Amino acid sequence: MLTDITAARDAALAEIETADTLESLSTLTTRLSGKKGDLARLKTKLGSLETVDEKKAAGQAINEAMTAVSAALDGRRSLLASQAMAEQIEAERLDLTEFVGKPARGHAHLVTQAWERLEDVFIGLGFQVAEGPEVETDWHNFEALNMSEGHPARGEFDTLFVDHVPPDGRVGTTLLRTHTSPVQIRTMLESEPPIYIVAPGRVFRRDTPDATHMPVFHQIEGLVVDRNITMADLAGTIEAFTKAFFGPGFTSRLRPSYFPFTEPSAEFDIQRPNGDWIELGGCGMVHPNVLRAGGLDPEEWSGFAFGFGIDRMAKERHGVEDIREMYTNDIRFLEQF
Ligand code: PHE
Repeated sequence: MLTDITAARDAALAEIETADTLESLSTLTTRLSGKKGDLARLKTKLGSLETVDEKKAAGQAINEAMTAVSAALDGRRSLLASQAMAEQIEAERLDLTEFVGKPARGHAHLVTQAWERLEDVFIGLGFQVAEGPEVETDWHNFEALNMSEGHPARGEFDTLFVDHVPPDGRVGTTLLRTHTSPVQIRTMLESEPPIYIVAPGRVFRRDTPDATHMPVFHQIEGLVVDRNITMADLAGTIEAFTKAFFGPGFTSRLRPSYFPFTEPSAEFDIQRPNGDWIELGGCGMVHPNVLRAGGLDPEEWSGFAFGFGIDRMAKERHGVEDIREMYTNDIRFLEQF
């Protein structure tokens, strides 16, 4: 009997050692510890033994064998489980080696770069950044800027109107802003002077795209309102900006011009170190009617304003031939900047 027990135990232990998957071990566990297992069967034969001592010795041997078998099963199970886990981790491992080294990184669009640099330069000159909505009222975009209905200058802004009936029922008075100048009005209405702001943003005109025009483009507006502001402050600010943004080799000039919302008005040009002049934008002293529309007394306050195209600046700075290139989003073009 004792020999049978030892043989059954050794056979079981050997079989456990050969189980190489958790599934086969599980089948083996059911068989070895079930009622039909060899040790369980030997246990049922204990009654046939002659003496009490023999029964006692055999019973003890069977219990010890069963304990050894179940310990071996447990040990084998945890070994196989940790192997399976290691295999799964290995199989699911992400190969990150391709990210080592210099990853391909994107960067801000060249118009965004110009926009941000412009903000930086003006913040450096003591300005704050303001903004206004892209969908505007006729009043903010024209009327309050001294262009009442029928003013011929309105014709120069090829306006895109929005299909929207405002609360006052005046159809055709909601539009996509044609310039950033309505932000002048909003700023004056919302804050008290002294005002030193720039307002970069998107503007819209009913233009056919060509090398120098896009129906959607960007402007940056400047507005200063304070006491005793003169044209000299305007010229000095433009010159300081030109040198800060383009470099010390650049200079600026003002040329008489006309805008309904400034008086006197000027165009401002910058001169490249090679002597070429480039037209950048418009400017002037804020018209008294505009100050009044902004809720300010022109006897007490004076100011200047300017506005110019951001896209054009980016174009000039990088020597881009055709402004449309900046919006076709061809990665081979964009990657260069
Ligand atoms: N808003 C004008 C334009 O779009 C530019 C400008 C701004 C001129 C401020 C004078 C003062 O052409």
